[in-house]
Amino acid sequence: MNVNVEKIEKDIFIFLEKAQEELSIIQNEDLLNQSKSHFLGKENLLQLILTDIKKYDADTKKIIGQLVNNAKSKIELLIAERKKEIRDQFKNEKTKNTFRDLTLPGKNPIPGSHHPLSIVEDKIIDIMTDMGYSIAMGPQIEDDFHNFDALNFPKDHPARDMQDTFFLEKNKLLRTHTSSVQVRTMLSNNPPIRICAPGPVFRADNFDMTHSPNFRQAEVLHIDKGINISHLKGTLKEFVGRLFDKELNIKMRPSFFPFTEPSVEVDVECPFCNMGCRVCKNSKWIEILGAGMVDPNVLENCGIDPSEWQGFAFGVGIDRVAMLLYEIDDMRLLYENDIRFLSQF
Ligand code: PHE
Repeated sequence: MNVNVEKIEKDIFIFLEKAQEELSIIQNEDLLNQSKSHFLGKENLLQLILTDIKKYDADTKKIIGQLVNNAKSKIELLIAERKKEIRDQFKNEKTKNTFRDLTLPGKNPIPGSHHPLSIVEDKIIDIMTDMGYSIAMGPQIEDDFHNFDALNFPKDHPARDMQDTFFLEKNKLLRTHTSSVQVRTMLSNNPPIRICAPGPVFRADNFDMTHSPNFRQAEVLHIDKGINISHLKGTLKEFVGRLFDKELNIKMRPSFFPFTEPSVEVDVECPFCNMGCRVCKNSKWIEILGAGMVDPNVLENCGIDPSEWQGFAFGVGIDRVAMLLYEIDDMRLLYENDIRFLSQF
């Protein structure tokens, strides 16, 4: 069949021009997607040309086939370009129409706060470092020697029962007090020694209003020549005054710890009243810590000559102080991490 290739070429040209014109006014992507089937679908020119193609000879088929394929690619390209234009336009308009009010207040982040136990521990560290003590640390998993033996706890002595110990395997235990850090410090340092050792301790206690199986202590140890109990008392008075931000009297009551001789329980004048209150249980005094002069046996166990060096030590419960300072009457609150409780500090 004789065919006018030039005429077909011209028709395709006009078809493409028209398509370009129509596509350029389409304003949304859905319509654009539909227009693809419109331009390339059954009823349109390109498809009609292809239906006739089988009637032509091989050479003509080739030429016309190529013309149609090129036209299809062109339409696809036009649609993709238009799609990009619509998207860019949409983006521009979106940013153009967004009014940025630079005077609006910023987002208000809720600041975190320190845990009451950290506040008290930091305060103790500040007080003691101001007085010239350095901070010492020790392991929480201890052995019998550092937690008991070296501290003059005889084997099978009932004093060991006072410290309900969590025993682990192979002669290991969770330290029941920070006094074990005294031992480690004395064994690895020559006197004079002035340390404060804060940290967690463990006792097999039930968790209730006043007990926890895991609480925190700070241990203070001072070894030097000619140290006597008045140095202990002076240091305690300064310590307690700064801890409660108030000059307070203290009194020492005889007590017993295997590692100190003499040993004392220290009471502080109630910082909250002068006539008796709920906190001091109407006694005007509050028991706050254990203390004493380091037992010569402990010095010897740690390689220090007791005829040359003397010392005092005291140990304070950080939880106990936090509960007093912030009038917290249930110790469990310190460990529950309730944000409503913590955000008050
Ligand atoms: N380690 C003692 C306790 O946990 C406290 C203490 C420390 C007492 C230092 C005297 C001297 O109960």
